[in-house]
Amino acid sequence: MRVAGSLAPGVFLCACSGPQSALDPAGREASEVATLFWGMLAGAALIWLAVIGAAVFAGRVQKEPIGDRAGLRLILWAGAVIPTLVLAALLAYGLRLMPVLRAGEASLRVHVSGEQYWWRVTYERADGTRIESANELRLPAGRPAEIVLDSADVIHSFWIPALAGKLDMIPGRTNRLVLHPERIGTYRGVCAEFCGRSHAYMAFPVVVLPPQEFEAWLAREAAPAEVPATSTTDTGAFLANGCGGCHAVRGTAASGTIGPDLTHLASRLTLGAGMFANTSENRRRFVAEAETLKPGVRMPSFGALAPAELDAIAAYLGSLR
Ligand code: CUA
Repeated sequence: MRVAGSLAPGVFLCACSGPQSALDPAGREASEVATLFWGMLAGAALIWLAVIGAAVFAGRVQKEPIGDRAGLRLILWAGAVIPTLVLAALLAYGLRLMPVLRAGEASLRVHVSGEQYWWRVTYERADGTRIESANELRLPAGRPAEIVLDSADVIHSFWIPALAGKLDMIPGRTNRLVLHPERIGTYRGVCAEFCGRSHAYMAFPVVVLPPQEFEAWLAREAAPAEVPATSTTDTGAFLANGCGGCHAVRGTAASGTIGPDLTHLASRLTLGAGMFANTSENRRRFVAEAETLKPGVRMPSFGALAPAELDAIAAYLGSLR
């Protein structure tokens, strides 16, 4: 009873669903991983039952010492044959899975680079044109996508539990992951390798769209920013304070490449790599307090600017649809 009481909360508290669960797969690779998990859980449960059963038998049922031959048989079967068979079956299953998770041709290629503490995301179309974005990944459902991973500084790890297993992003090395998203929805990706003080603040939303919607979105993303003519003072504040030295807004004088591309910032779901909802208040706050909100980030805090300047920059960012 006590054992059941201590196990029950674990069973009910485990995250079996939600946008960041490997047990609620939304793609082919994650389904394979989830099946592997349940298979290993069943195998482990089998071994656990056998061991506990043997212990109970030895302690409670078997009062007399068993003979030498029977003892040898028990050790041979329970100690060697059964574990070898169970582990060999799991190994065979794992080996069969490896090519399934690695191979595959994809019509869409997306380069993702890990940087302290954000994601540089570049979509590469079939004709070779590249569209730069950041901190959000959009993919078409039912079509394979090749994700090309590398890092600009330290080792990060790219993990979208609902779509696939994790893969390290290593400076100077390129890793590849093919994803087959199947279920439309919004999921959460994270950095799964400790990479510095703000490692925990390095996440990104993953939006799986119907293919036509994805193509329409990519066409909008490829276009330069449409800044309304009424916001020239706001644009001025953005440029005068040097924001364009680090950030690019395609179609304007801002062409920095150090920080995230901001061309369609207002259309993204989150700010600061999955940290905050993308609201006007949060945009202003992030500009004013970046270093406090995200320790170790390369962007300085602009809290010393006049409130009107901060408002203008936040308004400009909000116009980047
Ligand atoms: Cu990047 Cu942890």
